[in-house]
Amino acid sequence: METNDTSSSTDGIDLPPTASAPPLYPPSIKPPDEPLPILTFLREFPKNPLRSVPQAAYEKDIFVLRSRIPAVTYAWITGPDLIEEILIRRSGDLEKSRVEKRVFAKSVGDSVLTADGQKWRWQRRVLAPLFRHQETTGYVPAMTTAAEKQIAMWQAGGPSVRNIEEDMSEATLAVIMATMLAENDLSVGKRIMNATEAYLSKSSWEAAYAILRMPNWFPHPGTWRMYSSSRTLRAIMGELIAARRASGATNDDLLGRLLAARDPETDEPMDDEGLIDNLTTLLLAGHETTAKALTWTLYLLARAPLWQDAVREEVRQVTNGAAVAAEHVEKLSVTTCVLKESMRLYPPAPVIARVNKTFIRAGDENLAAGSNIVFPVFAIHRHRKFWNDPDRFDPDRFLPENEKSIARTQYMPFGAGPRICIGQSFAQVEAVALLATFVRAAHFTWDGHHEPEPISRITLRPAGGMPLNVDPL
Ligand code: HEM
Repeated sequence: METNDTSSSTDGIDLPPTASAPPLYPPSIKPPDEPLPILTFLREFPKNPLRSVPQAAYEKDIFVLRSRIPAVTYAWITGPDLIEEILIRRSGDLEKSRVEKRVFAKSVGDSVLTADGQKWRWQRRVLAPLFRHQETTGYVPAMTTAAEKQIAMWQAGGPSVRNIEEDMSEATLAVIMATMLAENDLSVGKRIMNATEAYLSKSSWEAAYAILRMPNWFPHPGTWRMYSSSRTLRAIMGELIAARRASGATNDDLLGRLLAARDPETDEPMDDEGLIDNLTTLLLAGHETTAKALTWTLYLLARAPLWQDAVREEVRQVTNGAAVAAEHVEKLSVTTCVLKESMRLYPPAPVIARVNKTFIRAGDENLAAGSNIVFPVFAIHRHRKFWNDPDRFDPDRFLPENEKSIARTQYMPFGAGPRICIGQSFAQVEAVALLATFVRAAHFTWDGHHEPEPISRITLRPAGGMPLNVDPL
């Protein structure tokens, strides 16, 4: 990919020259040269699993940490051709990873996110219609309403430093509750947010224990907190289901469709466990990821003010002062390039993992059945061989003339293959609509110091939160 130092333009907006963006965004995690020895692993992994991804994953197509036991063999695959071959063409030979299943078992059980085989296929079929692109654009008014509420709070407080990470979680949770559950009760939203935070903040311990094959009952710091927060989350979902049944309403929203769904083979409805599994999944997967995409994007825009101005100018030209509507979203091309580049540098879901059911030959490596195959999206997106100046914030990479040379497995914030994110279209529309609404309404500035380490806690979080100065316009 070529970058240049001259400015370019798209549909009448002058884009800042590449050199105007801050020079580099180093991962601030130094990848280890070699896989970590066990004690160091135990110390570093729970702090940030990305610290255990070896340097070779950023430089080679595949790197294997081999053991005589396949279950403790790890293959990091980061070359686009190999990802295409394994994650897409051989998807039938893969299952969701043991680690992911264990981390999510307490909260989402056997949902569309964690199930395999027939159980996964059926759940995916039931949910897919809800996420078709045309359904998604119908949600734009609810999305901008949620953003406007957030802006009203900023305006009431005047110019101030806000924890943008928290503000974005609140905004995206309001969106998912309104669009999927026709639910606008913010106190329910707050309970969900607190329980989600408590659950995810301890997830790396569970992942580390799964990798080390510690028994499920073996306690770790935060075990009790994970249990109690997952019980809270599932109880809230149970209450939402009971309230909908009691009301007799037949809304055509997520919950309505889940309640009406029938197994194509047995014609049985989804049982209550299945309903709770999937509602919890969609609320978790559907707000945390988009919140993180917006958080990192506002951070980057605060550090690249010329790009922030370009987005603001585009929103002004496209909407002419009106609220961001569905017909504007596709025209907001600078905003879209900025979001894509932000999700390259800071992919909200930084790791994808699988286990192979059968022997797989990956490049020059043999992977016996039962090996752990990791696609570290964070490293794929900063791969030294496939990206030019990989740590630089450069939204020009996603201008149409440049984007066509990026392989679908070189840039994959939503995954790839049959298990690609079901909410991709929803998330893309939402992120553009919210970002455009926020940037039009306020200036975001950086304090010049806080360079948060990106920490993988299922989603990619900024260590120490994301304090930004918000100055409502
Ligand atoms: C910027 C926002 C988002 C990002 C970056 C993202 C990323 C991803 C990724 C990488 C996967 C694939 C995981 C794998 O292959 O193991 C995935 C799966 C999934 N996502 Fe998203 N996601 C986002 C938003 C959403 C939204 C808004 C929803 C729903 C409302 C959602 C629901 C799901 C579900 C249910 C799956 C599992 C699909 C399956 O296994 O069939 N996601 N997401």
